[in-house]
Amino acid sequence: MKVLVTGSNGFVGSHLVRQLLREGYQVRALLRTTSDTRLIKEELPDVEVAYGELRAPESLLEVARGVDAVVHCAAKTKAKTLKEYYQANARGALNLVEACNSCAGELVRLVLVSSVAVTGPGPASRPAVEERTPRPISHYGRSKALGERWVRLRSRVPFTIVRPAAVYGPGDSSGFLMVFDAVRRGWMPLIDGGLARTSLIYVADLARGILAALRSDAAVGQTYHLAHPRPCSQRQLQENIARAMGVMRPRRVFFPHLLLYPICLLSELRASLTGQVSMVNLQKIPELVAPGWVCSARKASDELGFTAGTPLSAGVRETLRWYVDNGWLSA
Ligand SMILES: NC(=O)c1ccc[n+]([C@@H]2O[C@H](COP(=O)([O-])OP(=O)(O)OC[C@H]3O[C@@H](n4cnc5c(N)ncnc54)[C@H](OP(=O)(O)O)[C@@H]3O)[C@@H](O)[C@H]2O)c1
Repeated sequence: MKVLVTGSNGFVGSHLVRQLLREGYQVRALLRTTSDTRLIKEELPDVEVAYGELRAPESLLEVARGVDAVVHCAAKTKAKTLKEYYQANARGALNLVEACNSCAGELVRLVLVSSVAVTGPGPASRPAVEERTPRPISHYGRSKALGERWVRLRSRVPFTIVRPAAVYGPGDSSGFLMVFDAVRRGWMPLIDGGLARTSLIYVADLARGILAALRSDAAVGQTYHLAHPRPCSQRQLQENIARAMGVMRPRRVFFPHLLLYPICLLSELRASLTGQVSMVNLQKIPELVAPGWVCSARKASDELGFTAGTPLSAGVRETLRWYVDNGWLSA
């Protein structure tokens, strides 16, 4: 079976490509001519490469021809403008759906990798379920929600939508790397005490979950959260990181969420001066101060037989090892 993976060189996409190859699938990797392929350098000789840009429908016309299934993993996860999110995550999803529709008879499945950002926040006392009306609270979440809508409305290929919780693991250069770095320096930054709980998933588990969704006949037309069944707090996460690093007494820095406004504003200004996109920006504040980001993982367990099994301590250790081995963090 041959699978087209969009966003193959990204954090999640690279792990999915590895998992597919390990399980004997053939892979066509959708890349852009500008894509940095460091995360899949070892797999590149074993995959077929196709080039395409989500915002340019004409570049996608032939990308799904000759494959059996498509996993749409590509997305804009940080952007300077609202427009960039919508062009890639909403319009881009529609463009890919149309490309898949043009070979609908050949494709057995389209899996859209969406996000729990579409579901919206949920306190630990009431984990959010997939059936709940989506409550995205960021531009990113709203753009991903629209991407889901296009898939539901327009796909003529049997589809499944997966909504991963926050993903951590080797190759992640987003907020988790910043947290690892802060702990390495001896700090534990805790917003409002750091007790709000979040569902997480280790990236290798996520790759297995996406494959479980791809293979399941019962998953057609369904939406699944993919998350470790036990959510954790900021404090637990950072304590696990400190233990893995052997940082004996990290200094807990309790700061009220109001301080996030000047911090995010400064970070955003600095990023705009250097032409970069900061992970810490004003858009992030509602997500950071939400009472919790806990989603139920039960539906995937009941219907797909999938449980994210990597314990936080083991996932954190593997992630740290990778960061150090690859020079992203000093030992
Ligand atoms: N990481 C998380 O915590 C998390 C949580 C929930 C859901 N997700 C979802 O998981 C998926 C993968 O996320 P990730 O963390 O792996 O992100 P990532 O590392 O930023 O990778 C994004 C991928 O999308 C590609 N891409 C972006 N814009 C594109 C465009 N206009 N045309 C073609 N390709 C484009 C990128 O290609 P270039 O390298 O060329 O830019 C890259 O391969 C996304 O759908 C995201 O919404 C992630």
